[in-house]
Amino acid sequence: MTLCLVAGVVGGCKGAPPAVDAQASKQDRPGEGRERRMPALEGPPGSVAVGVNGAVSSAELHASRVGLAVLERGGNAVDAAVAVGFALSVTHPSAGNIGGGGFMIVREASGRARAIDYREVAPAGATRDMYLDEEGTPTQDSRVGARAAGIPGDVAGFALAHTKYGTMAWSELVAPSVRLAREGWPLDQFHADDLARAAGRMHKLGFHDSAKVFEQDDGTSYEPGDVWRQPDLADTLQVIATRGPRAFYEGPLATALVTGVRQLGGLWTEADLRAYTAIERDPVDFEYHGHRIITMPPPSAGGVVLRQILAGSDHLEMSTHAWQSSAMVHLYVETLRRTYADRNELIGDPAFVDVPMEELLSTAYVANRLASVDPNRATPSSEVGAGLPLPAESPQTTHFSVVDGAGNAVSNTYTLNGGFGAKLVVPGTGVILNNEMDDFTAKPGTPNMFGLVQGPQNAIEPGKRMLSSMTPTIVEKDGRLRAIVGSPGGPTITTTVAQIILQIIDYDRTLPAAVSSARIHHQWLPDKVRVERRTPAALRESLRGLGHTVEEVRWGAGNIGHANCIEVDPATGGFRAVADTSRDGGGAVAF
Ligand code: GLY
Repeated sequence: MTLCLVAGVVGGCKGAPPAVDAQASKQDRPGEGRERRMPALEGPPGSVAVGVNGAVSSAELHASRVGLAVLERGGNAVDAAVAVGFALSVTHPSAGNIGGGGFMIVREASGRARAIDYREVAPAGATRDMYLDEEGTPTQDSRVGARAAGIPGDVAGFALAHTKYGTMAWSELVAPSVRLAREGWPLDQFHADDLARAAGRMHKLGFHDSAKVFEQDDGTSYEPGDVWRQPDLADTLQVIATRGPRAFYEGPLATALVTGVRQLGGLWTEADLRAYTAIERDPVDFEYHGHRIITMPPPSAGGVVLRQILAGSDHLEMSTHAWQSSAMVHLYVETLRRTYADRNELIGDPAFVDVPMEELLSTAYVANRLASVDPNRATPSSEVGAGLPLPAESPQTTHFSVVDGAGNAVSNTYTLNGGFGAKLVVPGTGVILNNEMDDFTAKPGTPNMFGLVQGPQNAIEPGKRMLSSMTPTIVEKDGRLRAIVGSPGGPTITTTVAQIILQIIDYDRTLPAAVSSARIHHQWLPDKVRVERRTPAALRESLRGLGHTVEEVRWGAGNIGHANCIEVDPATGGFRAVADTSRDGGGAVAF
């Protein structure tokens, strides 16, 4: 089979799309059962790949290619997603990982959908006030260093998905990542810069051994085109490939991880690792304007917030206004202000706190919450709560989407939390530690890294999962797959997903157009409409005229999110994978 791929930053679709044996392909697609033609290529040049047999969109091209190769060998979307998840731990180290956690939505071709929760948990030694100093002031320990790390869930999550839904041998899915780590891969400009920045930051923090992983033997930075090898990570992945996923949680590798973390001052124990389990959950599953939306339940707040935003859109009839007109954005922001107040106060790990799901998901509740919206004036967040500043740390999570020819689909978002997590590599393992403990409420009323002001529902407790915003989502129309959507970006994840869904459902936009539209965010506190650098000045001024405080985001290239998504073209039934070019990096592939 000829491969037609288009990468976000590398190369382009080489010539005409491959010829497809329509009859054979149709027989291979029992779940969808509809003839599909190759859709036309469209969208920003170099960011879109089209195909009918499978597609992958992720933050990094080598990783996307790993997933595509699995699909070409006959693996299904879950097989490919597991392979991509491991590959990104090698090729997108700021966020791709095996030392963090995340969430996955699996939608089988039959339409049956499940949510896989592989969020990190607090170690048994964690305590409610562990990040407060003697004066009760939060310290940096929840963000930097080994004490910031929760017990990782990735390997267990991928294993659960693979056991329940995969078809290929586990070792075959990990093997490409072992190869990438051992043999290395040529860095592009984005990743060369990323490694140099990470090493610099680690040196500044005194984490010199960790910094060495990201620089040359002589201490200089890698240049674009240099091949980056990670022998320790290759050995770790080889153990996981050969001995299976439990090898991360018990045995010599687990001992090495715990010993390393404890030497660095962390709290992990071997019992913590042994006890970790990924959980299969019922997704948040609801109808919006003739579409089925399948998304993540707590301990991610993403699904609840997405439900409330879309219910708000319906109640306030946002789509009667032009996309990103000031009237539309005003109603959208007023919805977010109220929704995020709920997110921060009412949601936590359902194993530890009662989350009023029925109420939060009901349209009547959302309508009631929106009764105070003034169409002509911003409601100050101080009338809902108190405001605090949002720091400039770039939210570094990563999302990838996978579909196979049968219509099985995976939407996966996972993370180390901040870029390169706790800025520490466990010695001898290549495993980068997450700083996910910062997603807990260190102190009610005090903002976390993302400026989120959260409540006691999300307080630290041993074994508890910290609240998340990750929103891996799948959209269906008339029982058929329509789109796979998700993004990184801390609290901006859910608003990024909501804006893409609003555009494809209510504004009839193609996915490339929806992904390339400037994004806008509000999270109750701080009381600021956050806009991207590319947001038109006229819109900013109109919003200010309605009483909003508008501020351009300060991280990265002044952008929000990185939505690597896939849609089924309604006109042709073909797949269109879209790599988000608003940040560097990204690879969309299809065949
Ligand atoms: N670490 C970001 C989130 O889970 O929302």
